[in-house]
Amino acid sequence: MRFQTSFAAVLLNTLGATATWTAYQEYLSGLPAHVSKHQSPRPAITFKPKQPFEKFPKSPSRGRTCYVQSHNDLKTDDSPYILDAVNKCNNGGRVIFPQGTTYVIGTALDLSHLSHIDIDIQAYIQFSNDTDYWQANSFFQTFQNATTFFELGGTDVNVYGGGMLDGNGQIWYDLYAKNIYILRPILFGTIGLQSGSISNLKMRYSPQYYNFIANSTDVVFQGIDISGFSQSSALAKNTDGWDTYRSNNIVIQNSVINNGDDCVSFKPNSTEILVQNLHCNGSHGISVGSLGQYPGSYDIVENIEVYNISLSNATDGARIKVWPGTASALSGDLQGGGGSGRVNNITYEDLSITNVDYAIEVTQCYGQKNLTLCNEFPSNLTITNVKISNVHGTTSKKYDPISGYVVCSSPTVCSNITLEDIALVTPSGVENEFTCGAVDESLLHGINCTTLNKGSN
Ligand SMILES: *[C@@H]1O[C@H](CO)[C@@H](O)[C@H](O)[C@H]1NC(C)=O
Ligand SMILES: *[C@@H]1O[C@H](CO)[C@@H](O)[C@H](O)[C@H]1NC(C)=O
Ligand SMILES: *[C@@H]1O[C@H](CO)[C@@H](O)[C@H](O)[C@H]1NC(C)=O
Ligand SMILES: *[C@@H]1O[C@H](CO)[C@@H](O)[C@H](O)[C@H]1NC(C)=O
Ligand SMILES: *[C@@H]1O[C@H](CO)[C@@H](O)[C@H](O)[C@H]1NC(C)=O
Ligand SMILES: *[C@@H]1O[C@H](CO)[C@@H](O)[C@H](O)[C@H]1NC(C)=O
Ligand SMILES: *[C@@H]1O[C@H](CO)[C@@H](O)[C@H](O)[C@H]1NC(C)=O
Ligand SMILES: *[C@@H]1O[C@H](CO)[C@@H](O)[C@H](O)[C@H]1NC(C)=O
Ligand SMILES: *[C@@H]1O[C@H](CO)[C@@H](O)[C@H](O)[C@H]1NC(C)=O
Ligand SMILES: *[C@@H]1O[C@H](CO)[C@@H](O)[C@H](O)[C@H]1NC(C)=O
Ligand SMILES: *[C@@H]1O[C@H](CO)[C@@H](O)[C@H](O)[C@H]1NC(C)=O
Ligand SMILES: *[C@@H]1O[C@H](CO)[C@@H](O)[C@H](O)[C@H]1NC(C)=O
Repeated sequence: MRFQTSFAAVLLNTLGATATWTAYQEYLSGLPAHVSKHQSPRPAITFKPKQPFEKFPKSPSRGRTCYVQSHNDLKTDDSPYILDAVNKCNNGGRVIFPQGTTYVIGTALDLSHLSHIDIDIQAYIQFSNDTDYWQANSFFQTFQNATTFFELGGTDVNVYGGGMLDGNGQIWYDLYAKNIYILRPILFGTIGLQSGSISNLKMRYSPQYYNFIANSTDVVFQGIDISGFSQSSALAKNTDGWDTYRSNNIVIQNSVINNGDDCVSFKPNSTEILVQNLHCNGSHGISVGSLGQYPGSYDIVENIEVYNISLSNATDGARIKVWPGTASALSGDLQGGGGSGRVNNITYEDLSITNVDYAIEVTQCYGQKNLTLCNEFPSNLTITNVKISNVHGTTSKKYDPISGYVVCSSPTVCSNITLEDIALVTPSGVENEFTCGAVDESLLHGINCTTLNKGSN
């Protein structure tokens, strides 16, 4: 009851950006009539229908409980309260952000040394709009100049509770439209986490990717609801759902993503990753890569299983994107090419698509418009043992009559790419017509290949 009164006060006093207002109202509207200082049960995580590559360690139940205090004014930085509760309940306890409470995080939080702790977020948490502070203080992750609001890592950590994390993205989308070199923080940084679960959370308006998972093993994401489109003419760019990096045995499942870049993306050294039962809307698909961006580095993406995904309003469904062997530029702040490595043992199975530009796209010419140049300097990254099966639905008009693109830069760097049970149709009614190049077409079952001549543009 106490909380209900404070909602009204907070609502009247809120002067935040439009995007924030929307997210907070959405949060309020999802609350039950009566709230109390209750403790969320830790969600049971089951793996269905596919099993992870390796078994997950057990997570013992917790003892002590710490409630996080709050100024509850949507203005004052609550970070000291958060650190205080986390420090008190680390090593065997549970930290609760109670339902109906609001928090502002205005300090980059180092949560990298967590151990045997549950974090029960029932509340609304907003990251402050101080873009100067965040650019100077967020955690620099090096890869693609990524930065994160916080780093959550350690051993045996479970985060859940049904609450909402709001990245206050609108101010960042508008700023990025003016200057592409600003560093936009990632909403949720899972960095160096050995065993854990992140589940039942709403993530809204991330300035950049929603999730970055790096240096982590045995982590599952489940029941995550992602959404956030820009409300100005500046687009919400690079808002990937999840990017995995230097991580092994990760599961992402049973989630809904409404965003404007990759739904899930496997960056360098992502191995043993299972992705299943997702709805992705507005995305760039489920992507391997981009890889081979940095000369001198060796990128591995291996043992990936993607199952039962529906994709709408997307540029791609299943996608493998590799930079060529020569320097290339996708945009001013995204350049690369010349790196080496391997993409191996990748399975995509049961994808249902609606209004997707390319249902399937394999390219080794990422960021390079000149195909002649691309073929002259084939990618140093091999692609082997890829199976894409049971992909069905209707593409968008964009490439009609073509519904997919499978083009390697040389037959020597691609082998055993198999397509099976593909049933795609374009808006004009053409079925399974693809652009193909430098691949074994006999393995593209049921595909009518328009072969791209080596050297054509
Ligand atoms: C940033 O947040 C503060 C505190 O909530 C608010 O007073 C201010 O108007 C916001 N600034 C912008 C540009 O949204
Ligand atoms: C991961 O671990 C490596 C090696 O310890 C370290 O150099 C790097 O900064 C860590 N974080 C990321 C995002 O790679
Ligand atoms: C980071 O950004 C700088 C310029 O803003 C650019 O020169 C550099 O290549 C970028 N680094 C990476 C790793 O993308
Ligand atoms: C990926 O793994 C390979 C092989 O262990 C290693 O050479 C390379 O440096 C790793 N790359 C990254 C980005 O960690
Ligand atoms: C596929 O995923 C949807 C949710 O996106 C789920 O409802 C359905 O049960 C899943 N199908 C299978 C066979 O697991
Ligand atoms: C799906 O994405 C489109 C943009 O492609 C957007 O207009 C629409 O609102 C999204 N749907 C939902 C439910 O968010
Ligand atoms: C390849 O991936 C599949 C799952 O898609 C897995 O069952 C199999 O063990 C992997 N192969 C190897 C050699 O690891
Ligand atoms: C795709 O986008 C259109 C609007 O552009 C929207 O009406 C539709 O609901 C979206 N599909 C899904 C599954 O969200
Ligand atoms: C593409 O690259 C080739 C080979 O380097 C070069 O001869 C040609 O001029 C380039 N075409 C364009 C449009 O830049
Ligand atoms: C990358 O490919 C280019 C062109 O094919 C080649 O000249 C270069 O030696 C390769 N580099 C590595 C590290 O394999
Ligand atoms: C081709 O790749 C599939 C996995 O995608 C694998 O099961 C099969 O054994 C591979 N075939 C050859 C000839 O290597
Ligand atoms: C394959 O594509 C060609 C060129 O668009 C077309 O003429 C032909 O009818 C197609 N074949 C089938 C079996 O769809």
